[in-house]
Amino acid sequence: MAAPVMDPQYLKEIEKARRDLCALISSNQCAPIMLRLAWHDAGTYDAKTKTGGPNGSIRHGDELQHAANSGLKKAVDLCEQVKERHPQITYADLYQLAGVVAVEVTGGPSIDFVPGRKDSMASPEEGRLPDANQGAKHLRDIFYRMGLSDKDIVALSGGHTLGRAHPERSGFKGAWTKEPLKFDNSYYKELLNNESDPELLKLRTDKALVEDPKFKRYVELYAKDEDAFFRDYAASHKKLSELGFISP
Ligand code: HEM
Repeated sequence: MAAPVMDPQYLKEIEKARRDLCALISSNQCAPIMLRLAWHDAGTYDAKTKTGGPNGSIRHGDELQHAANSGLKKAVDLCEQVKERHPQITYADLYQLAGVVAVEVTGGPSIDFVPGRKDSMASPEEGRLPDANQGAKHLRDIFYRMGLSDKDIVALSGGHTLGRAHPERSGFKGAWTKEPLKFDNSYYKELLNNESDPELLKLRTDKALVEDPKFKRYVELYAKDEDAFFRDYAASHKKLSELGFISP
């Protein structure tokens, strides 16, 4: 039996929701937090147990209260406005679509979006998302658990080209780049720039990308070749958005 989500009507709703998300994100200038929402819903995936992942579970109160998700209720509430207009669409698809649109409307690459994710009522235990105070080994532990690679780690960390840290949410402060509403390769340029503005943020996990020689090769490539970054980012983001997802 074909899953109902792939019917033409569903695909039409996805296109309408895409347009609504575009308008919502532009008028609220909320691309960064929408990208973070998509990443935090997906980034709990555990390839061994096939639990977590982009399944909409982040909307549940207990998961939203995990320390790593501080501040994301705002993004869940904004997405609810789109859900009300397109109730057929699963939360899992809606959050991943919001992440894709956030990258595109800020000037980033187009990311292939395949709909059909199912919603889950089960939230993973706390502690599956990365801890900003740790280094390269921790990054590998977390991203390898999802089934992702070194290249994915460096490309996806480029998501920090958008947005900022808020002291009341994470305890960190500031943006990673001078234009936090523009998706470009400046994150990598700042990482390699020893004289970068001290106001710009570099988390321990960001610094790990230049300390580890395998990661650094990609940082250097992306800093000098934005096309290579966009190509790899689009591929890694698609992987992240489809962890554990078998298209119907
Ligand atoms: C923000 C940690 C990877 C996208 C943040 C913040 C922290 C953080 C501490 C600040 C939150 C706040 O105070 O509001 C990390 C760590 C990562 C990681 C340790 C490990 C590699 C990623 C990835 C993406 C991403 C893979 C997307 C592909 C963002 C965005 C923001 C953000 C867009 C800004 C949110 C806003 O402006 O409200 N991250 N992150 N991060 N992160 Fe990450």
